[in-house]
Amino acid sequence: MKTDERRVIRLSEYAPYPFRVDSLDLVFDLDPAKTRVHSTLALTRSGHADDLVLDGDDLTLVSVSLDGKELPADRYSTDGGSLTVRDVPDRLTLEVVTEIAPADNTKLEGLYVSDGMFCTQCEAEGFRRITYFPDRPDVMTRYKVTLRADKAAYPVLLSNGNRVDQGKLKDGRHYAVWEDPFNKPSYLFALVAGDLERVHDTFRTRSGRDIELNIWVEHGNGPRCAFAMQSLKKAMTWDEEVYGLEYDLDLFNVVAVSAFNMGAMENKSLNIFNAKAILADPDTATDAEYEYIEAVVAHEYFHNWTGNRITCRDWFQLSLKEGLTVFRDQQFSADMRSAPVERINQVRTLRARQFPEDGGPLAHPVRPDSYIEINNFYTATVYDKGAEVIRMMHRLLGADGYRKGIDLYVARHDGTAATCDDFVAAMQDANRRDLLQFKRWYSQAGTPQVEVSDHFADGVYSLTIRQHTDPTPGQPDKQPLHMPFEIGLLGRDGASLPVRLEGEVAYTDSRVLELREAEHTFRFVGLPEKPVPSLNRGFTAPIRLKTAHSAADRALLMAHDPDTFARWEAGQQYATDLLLAAVAARADGSNSAPDTAEFVAALGQCAADDSLDPAFRAQVLALPSEDYLAEQMAVIDVEGIHAAREALRRDIAAAHGDLFRSLRDTHRAAAGPFAPTAEGAGHRALANAALAYLGLDPANADLAAEQYRTADNMTDAMAALRVLNDLEVPQRVATLEHFHDRFKDDPLVLDKWFSLQALSQRPDVLDRLRELLAHPAFSMRNPNRVRALIGAFANSNPIGFHAADGRGYAFLVDRVLELNTLNPLIGARLLQPMGRWRRMDDTRKALMKQELDRVLAAPDLARDIYEIASKARAE
Ligand code: BES
Ligand code: ZN
Repeated sequence: MKTDERRVIRLSEYAPYPFRVDSLDLVFDLDPAKTRVHSTLALTRSGHADDLVLDGDDLTLVSVSLDGKELPADRYSTDGGSLTVRDVPDRLTLEVVTEIAPADNTKLEGLYVSDGMFCTQCEAEGFRRITYFPDRPDVMTRYKVTLRADKAAYPVLLSNGNRVDQGKLKDGRHYAVWEDPFNKPSYLFALVAGDLERVHDTFRTRSGRDIELNIWVEHGNGPRCAFAMQSLKKAMTWDEEVYGLEYDLDLFNVVAVSAFNMGAMENKSLNIFNAKAILADPDTATDAEYEYIEAVVAHEYFHNWTGNRITCRDWFQLSLKEGLTVFRDQQFSADMRSAPVERINQVRTLRARQFPEDGGPLAHPVRPDSYIEINNFYTATVYDKGAEVIRMMHRLLGADGYRKGIDLYVARHDGTAATCDDFVAAMQDANRRDLLQFKRWYSQAGTPQVEVSDHFADGVYSLTIRQHTDPTPGQPDKQPLHMPFEIGLLGRDGASLPVRLEGEVAYTDSRVLELREAEHTFRFVGLPEKPVPSLNRGFTAPIRLKTAHSAADRALLMAHDPDTFARWEAGQQYATDLLLAAVAARADGSNSAPDTAEFVAALGQCAADDSLDPAFRAQVLALPSEDYLAEQMAVIDVEGIHAAREALRRDIAAAHGDLFRSLRDTHRAAAGPFAPTAEGAGHRALANAALAYLGLDPANADLAAEQYRTADNMTDAMAALRVLNDLEVPQRVATLEHFHDRFKDDPLVLDKWFSLQALSQRPDVLDRLRELLAHPAFSMRNPNRVRALIGAFANSNPIGFHAADGRGYAFLVDRVLELNTLNPLIGARLLQPMGRWRRMDDTRKALMKQELDRVLAAPDLARDIYEIASKARAE
């Protein structure tokens, strides 16, 4: 690769594009091997530039004409992908004809073929793989799109906006013409052509307009779209009610495709989805997948305003649309389901994905300053920390103030390409609040560490809160951040105590403190005894919190905190303290392993408490993950963590066998016949959490096998299979085989079969993985399958991936190098866990570095993979 293709793009170098695109007319002659694209751009000069430069990638140029005249070769050049037309007039019409090969497009960016249908993926920079164009989000224009294709093979022809014409052509071909009345950037362009089944519904907006809703899927999958359609209608209603935002066209199309790099894409009025984010029925989808579908459908729909009507000025502003839209889909899910359980899941994800990123070599701010390949910046930081930043503004301004800010943001920026600064300015101006310091959340990387100490004397309780952020690559010095920090105080009897600050009259049960300084001391008065503080309730701030809580304090909060999230958190931190102490004790060979009996008892009490939501009790029963524990250690003890966690799971199972048997039976019965509701899912979650503990004992293999056989839904079947998968019992192989044979023709379910084996704790997991690479159903060209097997192994099987001989690392790197040519976006994502070498023991450190060096030494390294490998490898 030429070094200039690895150029660093910087936010500080942003400059507007020197031309306006007044309209774009695209004509596609679709053919899998050779598609011809005829593009007509009307352009007006708006800045200082003699030459017109258009982006392009992997295009075959056929002809260029300017104002109707074909240009001689000396008037233009193509270089490093882009097309430069020299000395153009102030106004011009440029016609460019190019050819592309959709069937050979394994990167799945631009126009490609998935299961015999044409589809597109243009975000972030895929449009330049379709035609020459200023492929940047601040260049917006009106699109007219003509699609021509064989009618028998591609009866359905879709693009953005409204269909304004269609008809027959000769040779069995037909055409359709689409016009999108809204200006849009190129990344929101889409087309689909295929033989598809339509699932149809309508939605009446609150202003009384009827919208046609269609979900297009492969023939036979129609019945699996009902839940997605329901979710779409719920999302449309919710956005009207909560944000006052209504859909703006008369038609909304959604298409499901099987080969897709991401979950889904918000193309204007033509959302394209990974099939796994649409298709569901009880026999094939788990509760978690139903919930995922509901959230993704909502997320992409919500982008119609936060992303499409108001888009990003440049890709550094990605969190403007993604952080905000993730926050919106989180609010939606919280309203549809249990808010505290949703919050717990969000925090789990944040800790599992974002905190490690923020503490490692790939740390970057929510609004990054530079990138080599933008595909690498669709990160947990931009998405999930970005959503936390919006959530903090929501908390600081209150729901009403936040809504005023949104209204002003929409009023100011509708139809334009905006920045994160614009968003905060709207929040600030609508509320007359100063958010200058708050904006550091956008520019400063790293997870703040907040340390709390306390003191009680003469009825006055003092909380001293210190914040500090460690250096991250390129940012040695950190400033204090402005954050909301909600607290409550509990008495020794578990009752809430009044929270009253010295000098104030009013008191409340809970209070949002605002932290701005490196250190604060808050003095609370009127307290009869030293309280137990409940800190960062609801995870108001996305921080690592260090408290002086004793085991007894944790148990008290676990049993009595009125903030449900904080109750769960107390249990997690209690378990974390014990597990880390156990790991340390094992490592130094001492017998000082902590006594877990009180924790185990407290856990049992929560699990048995019928006044609590079953979904919440299931969350309490799930111990912190091995990765989360690893994050808390200076040098990660892979085996020690695994052993300590397994030992605690066995202690819990041994202490509560009867409880778990009764929970499994009661809640399995309470769930009743399957329906994908939050309530049913809660019962199943608790029953299956209990089953997982019971299943640690091989004597309970029959119980799991019986559940597998009799389950009327995939959630219960998978829960049983997961138990068997980790047991050395004859039912293991038999059940896996049965599952394979039953679902071998259903790609989404077959993915689960691949994943189960990638997650196996058995010592022969790597041999099995290599066998599976050769399985006829395995393909490196389908991202779902790659993630199911390789992604699951590298991200969720620490004991297998970090095998002491380094075979796990070598296995991963072999796959990444295969993807270097096939699909570098997916390859780069898979490589990320290799950046963790810094915190491993010396042997693993050396093995991981050696594998990263092997990546960097590979010839023709794609930009995506080069960027991750080089940053991950840096000392
Ligand atoms: N705009 C993205 C999809 C995307 C990202 C396409 C990067 C191409 C490159 C979409 O809105 C999105 O964020 N999808 C998420 C799911 C969502 C629920 C967070 C995804 O695809 O995982
Ligand atoms: Zn999104």
